[in-house]
Amino acid sequence: MGRLEEQIAELKRRRNAVILAHNYVQGEVQDVADFVGDSLELSIKAKNAGAPVIVFCGVSFMAETAKILSPASTVLHPVPSAGCPMADMAPAEAVRRYKAEHPDAVLVAYVNSTAAVKAEVDVCCTSGNAERIVAAIPADKTILFLPDQNLGANIARKLGRKLELWPGFCPTHNRIMPEAAQRVREAHPGAVMLVHPECTPAVVDVADHALSTGGMLKFVRESDARAFIIGTECGILHRMRKENPGKELIPLAPLPTCPNMKKLTLESIVDSLEFMQFEVDLAPELMDRARLPIERMLAG
Ligand code: 13P
Ligand code: SF4
Repeated sequence: MGRLEEQIAELKRRRNAVILAHNYVQGEVQDVADFVGDSLELSIKAKNAGAPVIVFCGVSFMAETAKILSPASTVLHPVPSAGCPMADMAPAEAVRRYKAEHPDAVLVAYVNSTAAVKAEVDVCCTSGNAERIVAAIPADKTILFLPDQNLGANIARKLGRKLELWPGFCPTHNRIMPEAAQRVREAHPGAVMLVHPECTPAVVDVADHALSTGGMLKFVRESDARAFIIGTECGILHRMRKENPGKELIPLAPLPTCPNMKKLTLESIVDSLEFMQFEVDLAPELMDRARLPIERMLAG
């Protein structure tokens, strides 16, 4: 164990803290976490953590979700500037305007949205359950899906259903080009190709499956295939390699990086636990409103 890892273990004991981390953070950060997962898994973990202190290693909307689901815990986000540009593409004020103009529409928010936006919507979803959540909405309803137009378009095609799409996107996944996907696919004809549904529909068309990060990890673990082409943020490879030593993992080159996820470092966790910074602080009334669509998702 290195010096920083030892410090973190000691501080964690002293603060009675748990560390939750997303599959995209740096490998060394994943390695000090008590739990590593996708957005859905992390929401469930945060809800059931029962720990006085949660250190959340991911981007801001995830730390906010942890606080909303575990309001009695002190939730620390070591690097508050680690935001999600896609979440910021749907400002709450614009969502309120849409609602006023479309009072009958059902609003479905991908969890990659701010707490202020979640407080305005009917139900949340993650990439792991979006299809099921949308399919459960009566067919005669107009649905606004926000903020990810790619995830929305991918679900709409799968369900054969029209969705109103907010013009947001993940700049990291948008960088994956269908031509590159095709080239890698042709170079490895025996490999199973998995991509994230935040990729454009043109990229999803080239792949075998579009799955959440947790879904990809499970698929590779359980599959009998020996080679996989992986199309998502590069951080996923750390855990995937550890879990599948005998399998060939081929990055859909070049794999994009989410610069915000990479802001979480071991040093930032040490400071977070030492100085109890930076506490996620949301108004109780806002949390109550934002909790409803998340709870609906978790119950659905
Ligand atoms: P999942 O881990 O839920 O698939 O989400 C990916 C993502 O982009 C999180 O920001
Ligand atoms: Fe946001 Fe994309 Fe980074 Fe996920 S990978 S946090 S969606 S910018």
